[in-house]
Amino acid sequence: MMISRRDFLKNTSAALAAAGAIHPLLSWAADDSVVVPGKDGMIVRSLRFVDLEMPPEYANSFITPVPHFFVRNHMHEPSTLDAADWRLTIGGEVEKPLTLSLADLARLEAHTVTSTLECAGNGRAFQNPHVPGVQWQRGAVGTGRFTGPHLRDVLRRAGVKPAGKHVMFHGLDEVPGKVPPFIRSIPLEKATDADTLIALQMNGAALTKHHGFPARALVPGWVGAASCKWLSEIKVLDKEFAGNFMNPGYRMPNQPIKPGEAVKPEDTHPVTALGVKSIIASPTDGASLKSRSIHIQGAAWAGEADIAHVEISTDGGATWQAAQLGKDQAHYAWRLWSYTWKAPRSGDYTIRSRATDSQGHTQPATAVWNPSGYLYNAIDQVKIHVAA
Ligand code: MTE
Repeated sequence: MMISRRDFLKNTSAALAAAGAIHPLLSWAADDSVVVPGKDGMIVRSLRFVDLEMPPEYANSFITPVPHFFVRNHMHEPSTLDAADWRLTIGGEVEKPLTLSLADLARLEAHTVTSTLECAGNGRAFQNPHVPGVQWQRGAVGTGRFTGPHLRDVLRRAGVKPAGKHVMFHGLDEVPGKVPPFIRSIPLEKATDADTLIALQMNGAALTKHHGFPARALVPGWVGAASCKWLSEIKVLDKEFAGNFMNPGYRMPNQPIKPGEAVKPEDTHPVTALGVKSIIASPTDGASLKSRSIHIQGAAWAGEADIAHVEISTDGGATWQAAQLGKDQAHYAWRLWSYTWKAPRSGDYTIRSRATDSQGHTQPATAVWNPSGYLYNAIDQVKIHVAA
């Protein structure tokens, strides 16, 4: 991935740049841009902690190639990760605490779950009024094939005590200064679901460092924050984990609030499943097209539900036509869609996409505003010019 030195400096503290220090993951390329190993053509949202967004045109393949898969890090990636020394401990409300090596995990029956992973803050940049946080636009989302043992097989070996109600994950991130560590928990019911994994592989190869090598949780259908990377500790708790990334982080108001309004912590709940959403991969926003015959395509997903249909509007939302859904499907994965449209004449157009899920939820024209800008899922749109 290449970015200019100017963008790098914009994203990095002046002191760091002045000292000539570069994040250990990065290096200068010969043409004076910054290279992030294994990532190609991504939008850089932050380099202090690596946050990379997928350009929306990559939402055109059922499985997102790893080099184009978004990266969301709350802190520094672990600087050293040795597969041979790595251990995963399972403790808390269990009969038999365990310490497992990578070889122990690899010996357990492996399962593959194809799942769309989306950051809770994807689309935050479109919230009005503005909300703080990484200003993700449309591409903090991707679909991967994750492989590894069921989390429930590991929990069964440890024997969850009746008091165990929540499962906490802790990763090996390097915590800067006094920042609280990235620790979160999920309810036991989701942890023991047949599709919740300790993933060791992504798209048929070992996880890369950006995506949690050597092991990450895969909590399909839920916001990406549930899927802890660089997993080192699993702890069964009698209640939800109480820490910064569970409260006040990653919470939504219980009732819709007016845009800009504050909400009391006791009137909030943790963000869990993703909502229904679609993205237009092509044409790209701002494209100038030479032909009036236009192939519109993209992807749509719905967390724990399935996509029922996707509609396209080319007339400002006055009328909607059904898009054709792609043949590839998996319960937690996005569905590709396409629609061929003949623009009546040259000029400027706005193309919109609107998905509806199997539970009857349809993307709204305006997303529900909340103070952290989570779960933005308004109808997607691109503006194009047809020159023909
Ligand atoms: N796990 C750890 N240990 N540290 C993190 O910062 N970020 C979470 C989650 N797991 C994070 C983590 C968030 S907010 C998201 S959206 C997903 O990882 C992103 O996964 P990816 O970087 O593989 O796309």
